[in-house]
Amino acid sequence: MASSSCSLSSLMIFLVVVTFVSPICSTSRRALIDPKAMQIGFRVDLKHVDSGGNRTKFERLQRAMKRGNFRLQRLNEMVAKTDSEVSSPVYHGKGEFLMNLSIGTPPEPYSAIMDTGSDIIWTQCKPCQQCFDVPTPVFDPTKSSSFSQLPCSSSLCSALQFTYCGTDGCEYLYRYGFNSLSSSIQGAMATETFTFGKVSVPNIEFGCGKNHTGSAFSIVAGLVGLSRGPLSLVSQLGAPKFSYCLTSIYDSSETSTLLIGSLAIVNSTGGKNSIITTPLIPNPSKPYFYYFSLQGITVGDTALPITFPLNQDGSGGIIIDSGTTITYLEQSTFDLVKKEFISQTRLSVDKSGSTGLDLCFTLPSNASVVDVTPKLVFHFDGADMELPFENYMIQLSDMGLMCLAMNGSSFGMSVFGNVQQQNMMVIHDLAKETLSLIPTQCNQL
Ligand SMILES: *[C@@H]1O[C@H](CO)[C@@H](O)[C@H](O)[C@H]1NC(C)=O
Ligand SMILES: *[C@@H]1O[C@H](CO)[C@@H](O)[C@H](O)[C@H]1NC(C)=O
Ligand SMILES: *[C@@H]1O[C@H](CO)[C@@H](O)[C@H](O)[C@H]1NC(C)=O
Ligand SMILES: *[C@@H]1O[C@H](CO)[C@@H](O)[C@H](O)[C@H]1NC(C)=O
Ligand SMILES: *[C@@H]1O[C@H](CO)[C@@H](O)[C@H](O)[C@H]1NC(C)=O
Ligand SMILES: *[C@@H]1O[C@H](CO)[C@@H](O)[C@H](O)[C@H]1NC(C)=O
Repeated sequence: MASSSCSLSSLMIFLVVVTFVSPICSTSRRALIDPKAMQIGFRVDLKHVDSGGNRTKFERLQRAMKRGNFRLQRLNEMVAKTDSEVSSPVYHGKGEFLMNLSIGTPPEPYSAIMDTGSDIIWTQCKPCQQCFDVPTPVFDPTKSSSFSQLPCSSSLCSALQFTYCGTDGCEYLYRYGFNSLSSSIQGAMATETFTFGKVSVPNIEFGCGKNHTGSAFSIVAGLVGLSRGPLSLVSQLGAPKFSYCLTSIYDSSETSTLLIGSLAIVNSTGGKNSIITTPLIPNPSKPYFYYFSLQGITVGDTALPITFPLNQDGSGGIIIDSGTTITYLEQSTFDLVKKEFISQTRLSVDKSGSTGLDLCFTLPSNASVVDVTPKLVFHFDGADMELPFENYMIQLSDMGLMCLAMNGSSFGMSVFGNVQQQNMMVIHDLAKETLSLIPTQCNQL
């Protein structure tokens, strides 16, 4: 991919985001969005992908963990390999939370995965060679007065990876994975008006998908990327920040919240001490993910001598992600944490392997689980966070088990998952380059 300097006419915030992002600077973004949009703020409800299903807590957990495990592999494929096929900024695997939005004029509603690990917005468009069978109609560009194809001559088109000039203008083809999990998406880049709640924003660039194949995708009508890359919704809006608050992941019927722009504020009501703020750190070789610095973990009274270094080659480190269920720690680090939990938890280890989690204990019949389980503290750069019990231990009462909501990652990268983020306002401040976590009853927002 050719490298060239970033366009100076880009929005200020965009410059902030891409200054250290050399691989994507060549996209040379134009300031397509009215600067007024920078003051935009809106709120969107999020529903868990399994919401409404009639499943037990254990079944939901199994499904979510399976998706999370699959996602971990995909995220790491994106990180580990350098060949063009997998260094793609677009992640089309499974995600956990859906948001409603509308596309076009007049607006056509659909529901899409909200994904902090992806740098694109896409939906399915007519005429579709192969489209997923989704509950909402496939978007028909000919019925919208605000639709525009992205011409091949646009600088963005030549700068994007995997595009070519086709009958629909700037077309793209991404292939993912191999063997039974292989999949592909094909479509054309375009611009449209998108509506979020009552807020409409014109000229958002998105992928109009026309040929989706393979089992690796979630069966969804689309995706809204919220990554640090130039095509994500937050980058295109020039939104200085966004936040989400995920309700208990054990109760998929509750509604979670996404706040974009001016609504993503830090409410001081929780008391200053309960706000954790830590710097987001750039990874020039993988600029889309939200890396932060985790400088240690304390289990009970034992401070473990562990760090999560982000290596020169872009491997290692830890990211916060909206679509990975449990937390994954690099394997040798996880082994230390596991050993400490085994020695400090006054319960016997369950060896049945029946849950799909690495470490489980037999629930006590007569004692409070909280009393027999060590505390867990994550030492972020600049702030410590003691995790609420339910954010690291999963109680499966029906099975008589209690399991650590963490696993080892055989890849170098670690991921801070949804279980650990539940009932926290998670604020990504893109202007200040910080991540804040504030304990919050997310179902009461
Ligand atoms: C959910 O499943 C249970 C047990 O299979 C059944 O008794 C119940 O009627 C189902 N509820 C709904 C809303 O389908
Ligand atoms: C999206 O809209 C549908 C239909 O109105 C509704 O059933 C669903 O709960 C909504 N989903 C979200 C994430 O708000
Ligand atoms: C759709 O994608 C599949 C897989 O990449 C490909 O084999 C097929 O030819 C495509 N269909 C069309 C009409 O382009
Ligand atoms: C912040 O607090 C105000 C007043 O209590 C409340 O109306 C608002 O919803 C809160 N916002 C968030 C993001 O918690
Ligand atoms: C967790 O680790 C265990 C043992 O290594 C493995 O069998 C299981 O599939 C993993 N689960 C998830 C959800 O990653
Ligand atoms: C629970 O039962 C065990 C074994 O019967 C006993 O050793 C322990 O003290 C009891 N704990 C509580 C809190 O009663």
